[in-house]
Amino acid sequence: MKKPPHTRLLPFAALMLASVAAHATPVPTLSGDRPLVIAHRGASGYLPEESVQAYQLAMKMGADYIEGDVYLTADGKAVMLHDGTLNATTNVVAYAATHPEIAALRSANGAYDVTKFTLAQLQQLSVTCRNANGYCTDKSYFDPSLSYSFTSYDAFLDLVYDNYLDTGIAIGVFPEAKQSGLAVAEAILAGLNNPKYNGYFNTAGRALTQSFNAAQVDYLNANSAIPVSYLGVCPTTAAAAASVAAIADGIGPSTGQLSAACVNAAHGAGLTVMPYTYLNNPASYATGYNLGVDGVFTNFPDIAANVRDQIFGPAEVPEPQSLALMGLGLAGIAGLTRRKRG
Ligand code: G3P
Ligand code: CA
Repeated sequence: MKKPPHTRLLPFAALMLASVAAHATPVPTLSGDRPLVIAHRGASGYLPEESVQAYQLAMKMGADYIEGDVYLTADGKAVMLHDGTLNATTNVVAYAATHPEIAALRSANGAYDVTKFTLAQLQQLSVTCRNANGYCTDKSYFDPSLSYSFTSYDAFLDLVYDNYLDTGIAIGVFPEAKQSGLAVAEAILAGLNNPKYNGYFNTAGRALTQSFNAAQVDYLNANSAIPVSYLGVCPTTAAAAASVAAIADGIGPSTGQLSAACVNAAHGAGLTVMPYTYLNNPASYATGYNLGVDGVFTNFPDIAANVRDQIFGPAEVPEPQSLALMGLGLAGIAGLTRRKRG
């Protein structure tokens, strides 16, 4: 029986795919791709969280995405900080001792609220190590003589985009709307859509967004094609997962919430699963990867990447013969297309 023209390419296509996948290990993620390494507040296990240097180290360590938390300042600028106050992760207390205009921003309870500061005032501060397990726990990369730089949201996006221009390596960003209200979600999308990035963050694999707040998730979902994760939820039934899927593309449960039932229900509804926060215990990554998580928020991106390589093998790089076959296949498909048009 005579075959239609396109079926003559099928054995060829099968050969191409077999060749590319020859060394692949099955991966239990939603897409079948290896899980993403998401550097949580940068490489925050090594350097002060949300600092320029922590984000840069995360990119050097092979993170797929750089995560960071976003607030708006008193003058409406988006900035990167996890806490709503500056006390635990900046030098604000010491700085205020010699700067009365900064001391005047202190609340009665001693807290320095980020939303009371202008961007220019925040840029006078340096970012410091949080005194908590998993943050600057490993001092291998820490230089005590260095001042670690506070990061505006614009600078956060610039770092990743400029890294792409310099190296050709496309890394994504994963900003979280941390402040309540929709204004911060609006600012996140405005930054990602800034024309100066030439569509970089609107390209698949270059940006994800996230929030614990359903109204913010709904806003991010309704106003952008960039996938959004709903944090702090882990549905275990098809019905519960479907209701999350109505407003989100993925979930970001805590590692304590994570279960096989949740991964299965989420994947069944087409939701990705990217739990937080993985620290420096390699076994915890293996547990998550084997459950089928689609990504891990990690303070130690190098550990996350190493364990991923051990379990699933290194990233697939098409071999020269595969590339040649792909080229021939594409040429054949192009020929068919031309014939159809003609
Ligand atoms: O964004 C994922 C994870 O970061 C949520 O927790 O408190 O570290 O922002 P948190
Ligand atoms: Ca976060």
